[in-house]
Amino acid sequence: MEYKHQIKTLEQYNEAYKESIENPDSFWAQIAETFTWRKKWDSVLNWNFTEPKIEWFSGGKLNITENCIDRHLETMGNKPAIIWEPNNPDERTRVVTYSRLHKRVCQFAQVLKNNGVKKGDRVCIYMGMVPELAYAVLGCARIGAIHSVIFGGFSAQSIADRLVDAAAEYIVTCDGAYRGGKDIPLKDVIDDALIGNKTVKRVIVYTRTRTPVSMIKGRDVWWEDEMEYAETQVEKDNVVTMPATEMDAEDPLFILYTSGSTGKPKGVVHTCAGYMVWTYYTFINTFNYNQGDIHFCTADIGWITGHSYILYGPLSAGATSVLFEGIPTWPNAGRFWDIIEKYKINILYTAPTAIRSLMGFGLEPLEGKNLDSLKILGTVGEPINEEAWHWYDEHIGKKRCPIVDTWWQTETGGILITNLAGVTPAKPTYATLPMPGVDPVLVDENGQILEGGNVSGNLCIRSPWPSIIRTTWGDHERCRTTYFTTYPNLYFTGDGALRDENGFYRITGRVDDVLNVSGHRIGTAEVENAINMHAGVVESAVVAYPHDIKGQGIYAYVIFNGKHGDAEQTRKDINATVSRIIGAIARPDKIQFVPGLPKTRSGKIMRRILRKIAEGETSNLGDTTTLLDPGVVDEIAAGKI
Ligand code: WTA
Repeated sequence: MEYKHQIKTLEQYNEAYKESIENPDSFWAQIAETFTWRKKWDSVLNWNFTEPKIEWFSGGKLNITENCIDRHLETMGNKPAIIWEPNNPDERTRVVTYSRLHKRVCQFAQVLKNNGVKKGDRVCIYMGMVPELAYAVLGCARIGAIHSVIFGGFSAQSIADRLVDAAAEYIVTCDGAYRGGKDIPLKDVIDDALIGNKTVKRVIVYTRTRTPVSMIKGRDVWWEDEMEYAETQVEKDNVVTMPATEMDAEDPLFILYTSGSTGKPKGVVHTCAGYMVWTYYTFINTFNYNQGDIHFCTADIGWITGHSYILYGPLSAGATSVLFEGIPTWPNAGRFWDIIEKYKINILYTAPTAIRSLMGFGLEPLEGKNLDSLKILGTVGEPINEEAWHWYDEHIGKKRCPIVDTWWQTETGGILITNLAGVTPAKPTYATLPMPGVDPVLVDENGQILEGGNVSGNLCIRSPWPSIIRTTWGDHERCRTTYFTTYPNLYFTGDGALRDENGFYRITGRVDDVLNVSGHRIGTAEVENAINMHAGVVESAVVAYPHDIKGQGIYAYVIFNGKHGDAEQTRKDINATVSRIIGAIARPDKIQFVPGLPKTRSGKIMRRILRKIAEGETSNLGDTTTLLDPGVVDEIAAGKI
């Protein structure tokens, strides 16, 4: 497969960029031409940001799995699509070729049909990182069911809320999942999530850990039984056929829940054609992917990075993508390096948190590891600090691999700002330049657009790119007010950024109440709600503080009037409550008990002050005269932990 639209030089980038902004319709039509369509689109782009209403390739008909799988079969049927590295390095690897992937996806699509799933139905997927997770996701896409993958670290309560919000009728899960030394009982969590649930009709359970699970008659079925039966339906005389459902370009492909500044996660909706075109285009260009390269994205498919750069982007490009079940530090901190050596990985795409955590183990885990196959390194999910960037460059890339710092969001579907590996210049801690098709602007608090270099402001995007969020599931108004009303006619990212004299962007972090802990997005309001569920908690306020490994840590100020146990015990109880309500990923790192919170006369918590104290600044807290009770600030500062 030739990548016709792969950018090879800086001049080509400049040309493509200019063309994409001046003539977006013809620019994207040319790229979309390279895909398999059942019917071509009527118009490339219709949009307004006021409703918002955004349609790419409208009138076009296609199925994304035909583009990610079927179209590669003739020339690349025997090429590995997915290489699976199990949690335990002693367990056997699985190599899934494109033709095997085709068969499994068809089989699972048939399983879904056999269980009553129809186009447009919502299927919640809660699995560990096994190849079957890929089959489940793509099986949904093949029949037009809308998948909603939930990260394995979320609690039963979080799943229950998402099931209700999406009115999901089907679940695909595993008995359990292996993650490092842990064995996580996923089906148990699903069972808890289903207590009181009225919509779910069927749960399909894949066996991974052989943990005993309850199987409820009429509701729960085994993956293996279902697949065996489906095989007889989709395979005749060694030929696999399972027609893909014809989808409208703008039919929803998936929902992915993410945190915002309110207490309730929102279901970000992406649609078929635009998402496909964008993940493909950004994949081949960001990583300068060449046929035969082995691509290793270490994210979990439960997050957008896994959706776009383990599955859809690489597969649409006919690439080989590594799917890793485990964690970077188990059985030891050399695990990534072993995997790189074992599969001769060419592209490593990971999070700054992982880099910082591995840095902490020193150079010993790297000894004797052959990393010569690496050509390109990438980071995603949070700002990377200078020290981690240089460590990655020196010790992993040996100063010969370009590092791409890719900025994007669940809502953007794919990478928006990044350098292109080996093509456009890198600058440590800068995501640098926008992808063709992306028109970023910085605005000040009043929405005035800031021109020129050496300015910082809030990062917005002026016009739609193909995989921009279309709506928030079941609540379009929420999508409008969250992203499109802060600054009229602009998409507001929620991030702050600065632009240097060369036009390079550096993302400085969220300017709203969203935390980024180990690259995972968590809303402060969500954590506060969870803390407030604990008996004895009167009120709480959560802010971020700089954390050496996680990037940001969670600092909770809690007013507590309960009497049970000592402070340490109460902290543990609060953490247990948060784990129960959201999941362990949202547990506060620090909990300070306070007599009151700094509030304005109108009752608004002055988070600015709390943030400063959490960051270690206990004097110079700024103007506190507007506070109802300025004295409380001194007490809080004195009690800082
Ligand atoms: C942050 C992850 C700095 C940012 C793909 C964004 C980054 C949020 C970078 C989205 C980067 C992501 N540099 N910050 N390269 N990439 N972010 O939805 O704050 O999980 O708004 O998507 O992560 O997180 P999400």
